[in-house]
Amino acid sequence: MMTPSAFHFAVFVTSCFLVSAHNSAERLYNNLLLNYTKGVRPGIESNCSLHLEIFLKVSSLLNINAVEEVMSVNGFFDMFWRDERLVWNKTEYDGHSSIMIDPSLLWTPRILLVNPARRFQIFGTYSSEVRVQFDGFISWTAGDLIETNCNINIRNYPFDIQTCDISIAPFGYLETEVNQTSSMTLQVDMFPDGNGEWDLVQTNTADWYLSGYKFSNFTLQYKRKYQFVLTTIIAPILILNVMSLVVFRIPPNCGERISFAITVFLSYIVYLGIITENIPKTSSPMSLLSLYLMAKVSVSACITMATVFIVQISVKSPNTPVPERIVFLMSMSSKRRTARSKVEDPAENTQDDGKRIKTKSDRAEIIANVERESKSSLIARCGNLGSKEPTWEEVAIYFDTILFFFFLFVMLLFIVLLFTFVCANLGPGQI
Ligand SMILES: *[C@@H]1O[C@H](CO)[C@@H](O)[C@H](O)[C@H]1NC(C)=O
Ligand SMILES: *[C@@H]1O[C@H](CO)[C@@H](O)[C@H](O)[C@H]1NC(C)=O
Ligand SMILES: *[C@@H]1O[C@H](CO)[C@@H](O)[C@H](O)[C@H]1NC(C)=O
Ligand SMILES: *[C@@H]1O[C@H](CO)[C@@H](O)[C@H](O)[C@H]1NC(C)=O
Ligand SMILES: *[C@@H]1O[C@H](CO)[C@@H](O)[C@H](O)[C@H]1NC(C)=O
Repeated sequence: MMTPSAFHFAVFVTSCFLVSAHNSAERLYNNLLLNYTKGVRPGIESNCSLHLEIFLKVSSLLNINAVEEVMSVNGFFDMFWRDERLVWNKTEYDGHSSIMIDPSLLWTPRILLVNPARRFQIFGTYSSEVRVQFDGFISWTAGDLIETNCNINIRNYPFDIQTCDISIAPFGYLETEVNQTSSMTLQVDMFPDGNGEWDLVQTNTADWYLSGYKFSNFTLQYKRKYQFVLTTIIAPILILNVMSLVVFRIPPNCGERISFAITVFLSYIVYLGIITENIPKTSSPMSLLSLYLMAKVSVSACITMATVFIVQISVKSPNTPVPERIVFLMSMSSKRRTARSKVEDPAENTQDDGKRIKTKSDRAEIIANVERESKSSLIARCGNLGSKEPTWEEVAIYFDTILFFFFLFVMLLFIVLLFTFVCANLGPGQI
């Protein structure tokens, strides 16, 4: 059991020991900085280039602003180099093997962001103290919000892959003076899978040179998470496709037809606006999706005009004769239809007869009779159509059917074209 006085003595001895250790650290600090000139870079006396190692640690991807073409990440640079002026003998300083010194008192590299989104940036505002080892090795960490300019390619929106560079250089120094090597790590535990909108696909580093200066690129490649756009934009557009065809199934004399067609037309314009808001305002290259939408807007305008045309036909006065050519066209298609039903009918009738004999039920007989009668009367009516003068309403219905199938074909063709182009632009296994 420790008595209170023994406890006080222990505290006193420990603090004495701490004071003496502090003294050696202060001595070391003062001696190191005594003849140090921070404006002179290390290695200049031995006439060799300073080897600077830079590790970029990206801790979080904040955002890729596709409209302004800006990538924002939070990251810090770990920098390592050697300063031959900052060496000491450990045994002379109570075994102190490293010491922390304020960066403003030492030479530190000024790392410039070469491709900033806004203005040029030198890392160092948010930095640690400099750790100096007895053998002159120095490590320093400076972190910040990094906002770089990033060329966004939205041709395949929303199945696009974006590549953004963080390009840096030791500000002002030639490669023969400061020669940096770069590498990059991601803080995987902090940064599991990109952010809500983007997946990180891969990272890379590369060097490039310009008139004696050496630049280092840290490249991040992202893939858009397309599910959101697929459900909120592409699926509604495909549904609109079908809706735009429904207009040919509304009776021609119904005035609502034109407003329905115009509503669908306006819906396409709204979606075109939504997509334009989400992508950069560049024309090289254009997004395939907006080109597709533009084409759909034109088709929708054609549908609206066709609708107006059909409504106009259907309300024509019955005194105006239907032109010969249209009558001929209609009789051609109706003849083909009657011919087909005439070929099919006898077989059906004999089948019906056989069934009726087998069941021997009076009720079934009556029903079958009624059916056969109605069928034959239908045939008679259809047959008459060819000879009888068609009314304008029948002409309108006839054109409705033709236009319905025509625009159905156009819709399917456009969808196939869109998907062919998108798939041709995507590499294998990108979706
Ligand atoms: C600093 O420079 C002075 C004068 O040149 C010299 O006497 C002294 O030993 C130097 N101190 C250290 C720690 O190098
Ligand atoms: C440094 O080295 C270069 C080439 O090796 C030489 O031309 C230059 O004179 C040297 N400078 C000094 C100060 O020694
Ligand atoms: C460090 O200092 C101790 C004591 O002054 C000395 O014995 C030793 O040789 C020195 N070591 C080096 C590498 O100079
Ligand atoms: C490095 O990044 C810059 C800016 O994005 C770019 O212009 C340059 O081509 C890149 N160089 C390499 C080698 O990737
Ligand atoms: C810079 O470092 C690289 C790799 O360490 C090396 O290949 C290159 O020759 C160095 N450049 C100079 C000017 O020393």
